[in-house]
Amino acid sequence: MTRVLVTGGAGFIGSHTVDLLMSRGHDVLVVDDLSTGFKANIARWANDPKFTFFKADITADITGTLDQYAAIKGPVERMIHFAAQTAVPLSMDDPVGDIRVNVMGTVALLEYARRNGIEKVAFASSSAVYDDDAPVPVNEESRARPSSPYGIDKLVIEFYLDYYARLYGLKYTALRFMNVYGPRQDPKSYYSGVISIFLDRAVRNEPITIFDDGEQTRDFVYATDVADAVVKSCLEDGALGEIINIGTGVEVTINQTARTILDLAKSRSTITHAPARAGDIRRSVTTMDKAARLLAFQPKVGLREGLEQTLAWVRTQMIVR
Ligand code: UD1
Repeated sequence: MTRVLVTGGAGFIGSHTVDLLMSRGHDVLVVDDLSTGFKANIARWANDPKFTFFKADITADITGTLDQYAAIKGPVERMIHFAAQTAVPLSMDDPVGDIRVNVMGTVALLEYARRNGIEKVAFASSSAVYDDDAPVPVNEESRARPSSPYGIDKLVIEFYLDYYARLYGLKYTALRFMNVYGPRQDPKSYYSGVISIFLDRAVRNEPITIFDDGEQTRDFVYATDVADAVVKSCLEDGALGEIINIGTGVEVTINQTARTILDLAKSRSTITHAPARAGDIRRSVTTMDKAARLLAFQPKVGLREGLEQTLAWVRTQMIVR
């Protein structure tokens, strides 16, 4: 069993990763400032002796926190790094603040990792690093040319990982996520993922807005499948120094996605169209070869099943509110 630090572990994808690690008996330390994560996402583990939570910001010096944990449990052995400012539009409004959290916060963690001999780091990167004109399907060799400070941060961190690997022998795997969806994705902000917004509107029978003609496509991957890829890349010693796209390889239009959601929710929501959102890419889907070859990654949850499960979760949240 391994002692794993999960930064951003109270967040959407982070908490699914924590669930998987805990269910396999690992000792998990979550560091999260709860800026966009929720304690409720990890509440089920609160009384488990193998679970530790520290509310802390990665840009503050968390060395003391990690040393405190090490004194009680033993040193952190592996690290999964999710903690970030994840809103693309906010990164455009405040690129300096964005670098502070995403780049400086990460480099501080990498410094800790190399000074304390952390065995391996798994990093949550993004398909936002790719050129908008990248070929379809996109693969890991496609040109990286981010269209946002957020995408630039992720690419810069990949370079830092490579630097730490070459200079200090730090082991890592970076995963570039496609469009992740599932329970715990917060629908309430204007940069929320499309599926979380559509489900939220559908259960309330409120109108949903499709930007452009709705024939733009995405590769939607379910959060527990992403968690599976992340845990593999952290705990297995393969895929060293590799960058791997994590998606499903299935390209779906926004129109199809909306129709499936309205159908599953038996919703009376109407669909309205609005002008294309600035900077939206037209088609997005990944090849799966590298993830299959290096991580034996195979997504288990198809879109319809994933939407059903997410819908069930959205309904439980309505009762709570
Ligand atoms: C996603 C990521 C972003 C990343 C980018 C590239 C999310 C939330 N965002 O953006 O961090 O930089 O991939 O990898 O995962 N749409 C509607 N109606 C709505 C909301 C969205 O029609 O109410 C459409 C959008 O115009 C877009 C599609 O749905 O065509 C997906 O939008 P969104 O979920 O925001 O994700 P991306 O733009 O792909």
